[in-house]
Order: sequence, then structure tokens, then C-alpha cells
Amino acid sequence: MEIGRLNHVAIATPDIAASSKIYKDILGAKVSAPVPQPDHGVVTVFVELPNTKIELLEPLGENSPILSFLSKNPKGGIHHVCYEVEDIEAACAQMKAKGATITGDGRPKIGAHGKPVIFLHPKDFGGTLIELEQV
Ligand code: CO
Repeated sequence: MEIGRLNHVAIATPDIAASSKIYKDILGAKVSAPVPQPDHGVVTVFVELPNTKIELLEPLGENSPILSFLSKNPKGGIHHVCYEVEDIEAACAQMKAKGATITGDGRPKIGAHGKPVIFLHPKDFGGTLIELEQV
């Protein structure tokens, strides 16, 4: 496999309304309405750019996967980058074969966009959490 396009950059924020306003009013971007995603423990807003998307993430619920990130980065910050792959099973097998750590149970899951994803642990990728999404 080889990685494809940058699908999105995800930015965690303690205040998604304030972050949406920054992208809309200051940067002039097209910004979606907030969507609660209880299965993923986040509220998402998509910022549409000509060549990619920015995904704003606010924690939802007590077990939100972004709470520990926000406790270390209280003002928010870049949480992960997402690259597209053609075949998530092949990507998963290749990442394991190359010694990368896949988070959770190591199997693809349905991500916040309804497509299969895996997350690669930042310790193997220069401190960046990487999401691979099958498109
Ligand atoms: Co993502």
C-alpha cells in the first residue's frame, strides 16, 4: 500500500463554537453545523477547504477519546492527520508487519465519517497520531 491524499487535519478544541467562529468569521471558510457523535465521544464540525478538510473536535461525554489530549493541551491543538488508503485491511496488515502500533484492538473500525479507519500510535510517527481511512 501507499498512502494517498490528505483527507483531513483534526483539531481538538475545548469550545467548538468559538473555533467554528474563527474559521468562519476570521478565515472566511465554509463551516458545517456541529454534529454530536455519541459513538465516537466527540462533536464534529467540518471546515471545507479547496484541497482538504479541517475537522474540529470537541469532547462529548466523560469517556471522550480526546479528553486526555485536551488535559495536556487545554487550549486545543492539532490532534491527528488523516491519510486516505484504498484498502484498510491491506494497510492494517502492512502497518503491523512494519512494526507500527495500531491503537485500540488493532482492527479497523468505522470512523466518524462512516468509513473504516485505523489509528497509528504517535510514538512510531514522530509524535503525530495518524488516521488511515479507506475511501
Ligand atoms: Co479524523
